[in-house]
Amino acid sequence: MDKQVIDDVQSTWKIVEGIAPQAAALFYTNLFEADPSLKPLFKGDMTEQGKKLMQMIGAAVGKLTALDVLVPILQGLAVRHTAYGVQEAHYATVGGALLKTLEQGLGPAFTPQVKSAWTEVYGVMASVMIAASKA
Ligand code: HEM
Repeated sequence: MDKQVIDDVQSTWKIVEGIAPQAAALFYTNLFEADPSLKPLFKGDMTEQGKKLMQMIGAAVGKLTALDVLVPILQGLAVRHTAYGVQEAHYATVGGALLKTLEQGLGPAFTPQVKSAWTEVYGVMASVMIAASKA
């Protein structure tokens, strides 16, 4: 992950944080549109869930230069996700919903370079989580 990728993701996440509640709501709309069968996995209040998701993505984005700290956090998150009934294939669906949300939320700031940076960063996060869920 080179510095430009990290810079692009961190600077665009700051924009998303300014519209965090709307972005979270949009994310779940996109996710359930992509795969309505995921709905029953979510048992709690979706506003709270959205806050937790945004906080965790924010924490992860802030730690892209400290992967030694980030990786164990993602591994713990992955183990909990297995207990929520999350399966490997769901990570791609969530990635697609996240990218779509970023595109909608960032508008013109979602350049091809930014898209590719987020694709790379989500890909790294998802592969760490998938590997941990198989361990
Ligand atoms: C980078 C990827 C992901 C991040 C950062 C993330 C973040 C979170 C966070 C912070 C929570 C709160 C509970 C906890 O910390 O254990 C959570 C819960 C949850 N996530 Fe994720 N998640 C990711 C991927 C996924 C995927 C691929 C799915 C599949 C549909 C998913 C479904 C769920 C469900 C079902 C819950 C529990 C909801 C409940 O308790 O009702 N997540 N996620």
